[in-house]
Amino acid sequence: MRSIATRISVMSGEGALSVFARAKELEAQGRSIIHLELGEPDFHPGPSVIASANRALASGKDRYCAVAGLPALRDEIAAYLLRTRQIKVSPANIVIAPGCKMALFFGMMALLEPGDEVLYPDPGFPGYPSIALGLGAIPVPFELSPRNHFQPNPAEIAAKITPRTRMLLTNSPGNPTGTVYTDEVQRAIAELAVKHDLWVLSDEIYARILFGGEYKSMLRYPGMEERTLIIDGFSKSFAMTGWRLGYTVAPPDVAPALSMLAVNSYTCVCEFTQYAAIDALRDIDGATPRMVGEFAKRREQFVRDLNSVPGFRCAPPEGAFYAWVDITETGTSAEEIAHILLEDAGVAAIPGAAFGPAGKNFVRFSFASSMATLSEAVQRIQKVSAEWQGAGARR
Ligand SMILES: Cc1ncc(COP(=O)(O)O)c(C=O)c1O
Repeated sequence: MRSIATRISVMSGEGALSVFARAKELEAQGRSIIHLELGEPDFHPGPSVIASANRALASGKDRYCAVAGLPALRDEIAAYLLRTRQIKVSPANIVIAPGCKMALFFGMMALLEPGDEVLYPDPGFPGYPSIALGLGAIPVPFELSPRNHFQPNPAEIAAKITPRTRMLLTNSPGNPTGTVYTDEVQRAIAELAVKHDLWVLSDEIYARILFGGEYKSMLRYPGMEERTLIIDGFSKSFAMTGWRLGYTVAPPDVAPALSMLAVNSYTCVCEFTQYAAIDALRDIDGATPRMVGEFAKRREQFVRDLNSVPGFRCAPPEGAFYAWVDITETGTSAEEIAHILLEDAGVAAIPGAAFGPAGKNFVRFSFASSMATLSEAVQRIQKVSAEWQGAGARR
């Protein structure tokens, strides 16, 4: 009988994309919608990056190229990681991918056998459990609880490690909570990984979007070099979401496996965008610090304003560009709140369960929109808040 493979039915979509689809439908009906659902900076790359892409295209850089990525780009990434993250990696261990998601997928595909257990943060990026399930692995969540300021609890992780545990996923700063893991937590995670001989997949896509302090990569802890894959890319830090550019820094024995997967799938990443990526990393326009400075101002205003909405509680995120709002005190479910916000207020946001069961009492708002738009969003939210006020008291 003709059928779709079960690996598809065990995977799941992304809450952000389904909210986005409904928001687009409403817009097509003439409704005004403020889009705070997608994790997409409202910036574009600086002029030097665009000029570089144009130059590369005009000079015929539109061919098949090196499977692992242009050597010049891999050299530049190594220099960038040393400069911005104090980590020394060999360009030979860097593999370019069409986006971080593909890098995540292939990192997991290269290292997991069916039945292997993968520890991952809940709430967290929805791709983590979905990809694991699609590969026949078993995702095992560890909780990022508000009681613990959304930090992973190493004791919980230790208790969940079994002889089948093969990989531990970290994401700092994290989507959706904005948590930057503390040095103490990262050190404890690294010790567990060494003790139990685990792979660590460190999703560092938001490493540059920090609101204070210095970033410390998982690669900097003892014993991590041989077991850590860093996933990073250009979507967030360089506002290049649609360019589909990401990369993995892998241990020397893993990089060829990633290239093998690349040969058998995307062959190589678009050549002229890789030239532009070199200029993005050099950032002569200062685009990244300017964007992060703007996010910092929005964060301050938006978090303060959200806390004035009845029943909303939001701690300022330490990184990334999401407000993770605890809606417990509204007495209404996050799904209902998100529904009211979209249908009645025209504000698109994501109910927290889209990021895992531990997110069920939260709603995620992206603050990658102008201060004026964010301000209008909160005014609209205030107006519909009567719909849930008193609900808590009634229950
Ligand atoms: C934590 C995290 N990892 C990976 C990705 C995927 O990034 P890319 O657009 O480069 O595929 C995202 C995008 O939202 C993310 O939030």
